[in-house]
Amino acid sequence: MSDSFQNIPGTFDILPQTQSSASDNVASSHAWQYVEGVIRRVMHRHGVQEIRTPILEPTALIARGIGQLTDIVSKEMFAFERGNTHYVLRPEVTAPVMRAYLQHHLAQLGGVQRLYYIGPCFRAERPQKGRYRQFHQFGTEYIGADDARADAETILLAVDIYRELGLSDFTVRLNSLGAASSRPAYKAALQDFLRPHVAQLSETSRERLESNPLRILDSKIDAERKLLEQAPVMRDFLDEDSKVHYDEVKTHLRAAGLPFEEDPFLVRGLDYYTRTAFEIESPVLGAQSALAGGGRYDLLASEIGSKQDVPAVGFAAGMERLFLALDVAGIALPDAENPDVFVVTLGERAAAFAFPHIRTWRQAGLRVVYDLKGRSMKAQMREANRQQARRVVILGDAELDAGTAQLKHMDTGEQQSVSLDSLPAKLTE
Ligand code: HAM
Repeated sequence: MSDSFQNIPGTFDILPQTQSSASDNVASSHAWQYVEGVIRRVMHRHGVQEIRTPILEPTALIARGIGQLTDIVSKEMFAFERGNTHYVLRPEVTAPVMRAYLQHHLAQLGGVQRLYYIGPCFRAERPQKGRYRQFHQFGTEYIGADDARADAETILLAVDIYRELGLSDFTVRLNSLGAASSRPAYKAALQDFLRPHVAQLSETSRERLESNPLRILDSKIDAERKLLEQAPVMRDFLDEDSKVHYDEVKTHLRAAGLPFEEDPFLVRGLDYYTRTAFEIESPVLGAQSALAGGGRYDLLASEIGSKQDVPAVGFAAGMERLFLALDVAGIALPDAENPDVFVVTLGERAAAFAFPHIRTWRQAGLRVVYDLKGRSMKAQMREANRQQARRVVILGDAELDAGTAQLKHMDTGEQQSVSLDSLPAKLTE
């Protein structure tokens, strides 16, 4: 038996180096930091503040929040029990954020809480390109907001992040699912339409026909899509308030100049949505085309124990899918951080001499690296080149005796002898 270990399929190590394989590229930690930096900057400009909630949540919160009948809850939860407590590795962050909002009485702060997060989520799905067991989401939740501007701003926020990263090839699909009160009539109409065609439905859709017929609407099976072309649409069943709200969302998006497509079959895979639902799709992602998804979830709070309804809207987006799309679009991301200074030392005396100086230069803000393996000067110079250091400081016995160092500028190749006293000033120049 081999005693070496591998990461679990559907999870990734994020290394300082980009990893390229036939099926998936994993971006470097430098690229992750850069993209996260852009996300944080755009959030900051929108007055959205970060919230960090635990990875572990009570299973009942997720089951009640997302819905027992959803794939996520019925098939994809990493859930376990210890003592009498039931834990789940969070499959998403909306229900946890709402839990935190209610638990910490954030409503008392008044106004709308604009919150964002970046972090891992877990779903026991069959791993494939763009679909993983541990993946990362960034997203926002605007809690306490009924205004249609909040819905539009949520969508625009996601779009602004993509555009700021240089991504422009995506489509925004929009729908309104209406209030919970308008759902039963539509559900019944859809069931009445589908029942005579039950023989044509897939096994999954047949199961959903009685329990969760709306989910049949986002079927990917051609024959079912064809059949659905004749199906009744939610739009004709919307209550008056939802209609007005939906029109307002569209008006705000148009005013902001954002193109979108209305899709009456967009339903989303989580049960908490009411009124606005949207997805942002990239044509380069293949079967897992959703870069981001979200919508309004006005009833989630009461579903998880609040005495009052709390209107809210948000989105979440997959980090890994974003990296896939950036890669296909040929958008280069940083994949290394080059040293300002690489210190090459010859012999133990020079190495010992350099050590405290390196610390001082680092305290002055320079990124300074050096060899820790006692390698030859040639090997150290090769390493400085590989790391694309801006400057190299060379120290040997002769330099120490003369109170000097060799300073090499790697871009020009120019090398000069400088006094040790003037070195700090030269390095920070
Ligand atoms: P979701 O559509 O389930 O929505 O997930 C949002 C995004 O997370 C997807 O569009 C996709 O980019 C990414 N994603 C989901 N599952 C995986 C996976 N297995 N592997 C890789 N990426 C994945 C939600 O999670 C809602 N909480 C969104 C929301 C926020 N609604 C309101 N506020």
